[in-house]
Parts: sequence; C-alpha cells; structure tokens
Amino acid sequence: MALLKIRTYPDPILNKKAEPLTDFGPDTQRLFDDMIQTMYVEDGVGLAAPQVGISKRILIASPAMKQGEEFVIVNPEVYSFSGRESGIEGCLSLPGISGEVVRAQKIRVRYQDRFGKAFDLEAKDFFARIIQHEIDHLDGILLIDRLNFHQRQEALAQYKRF
Ligand code: NI
Repeated sequence: MALLKIRTYPDPILNKKAEPLTDFGPDTQRLFDDMIQTMYVEDGVGLAAPQVGISKRILIASPAMKQGEEFVIVNPEVYSFSGRESGIEGCLSLPGISGEVVRAQKIRVRYQDRFGKAFDLEAKDFFARIIQHEIDHLDGILLIDRLNFHQRQEALAQYKRF
C-alpha cells in the first residue's frame, strides 16, 4: 500500500466534475486500499478520489472512524433527501479551515461497492454529512463554496495565513 498525496485548494482538479468509474480491476482495487490508508493516516472521516488527483466518482467514508469499518462508495446517486441539519465541517484539502454547513439530515443513496455490485443505503446525521461532503468533491464543490460570502472571506483569509 502507498500513501497518496492530498491535493489542496486551489488545485484545479478540486473544481472539476469527476467521471463515473467503470474499471474495477486490480489497479482500481489498489487505489481503494491506498485511499483508505491515506484517509486514516490523515485523520479524515472521508476522502474523495479528486482529493488524491484522480477525477473519478469514488469516495471513502468512515462514520465509525474505525479501520475496517469504512465504506467504499462508487458512482453514488442520492435519490432522497430529508430534514436539514447544520454542522461544522473540515476538509483535508483545506487544512486549517472549518465552517458551518447545512446538509440533509437523512439521505438515500444508490451506489456500487468496490467490486461494482449495486447497493442502496440510508444514511443519517454524521454519516449522511460525510457522504454529502464527499459527493460535493465529486462535483467539484468545496466546503468554502458552501459558506456564505462573509464566512468564505474569513475562511480564505485564515487559509492564506496558514
Ligand atoms: Ni473535503
């Protein structure tokens, strides 16, 4: 396994819409393992492929923050959103920045697992927040894009000093 380099803002790959994943072969299996390893080493609870320089619709989520209990979620499609909840988020691609973001409290997601098998899951609260944050990465949207103008200015001023 190898640790991957985390791309940080303003790396242009972070603003790109990622492409669907179609290849679940050995190279991709290695990528999943490397992403999982990298996420834990960096103390993240989620990681999206564009954050490691791969513009594919892959995300890792670890709501239990426990190695071995992470989800590999490929080509996700959220088809139901309910409730609204505000919470503080950080992002490995924006070190030193956190901000309050409103997300759906509960979502239902269709996706493929690491072997390409179709699944459907319901996620709530923290897990739902992680998935929504990581899907934003797949669509080229960053945490700072979810902040209001004032919060965004403040966060970016703080980021430049970091
Ligand atoms: Ni992030």
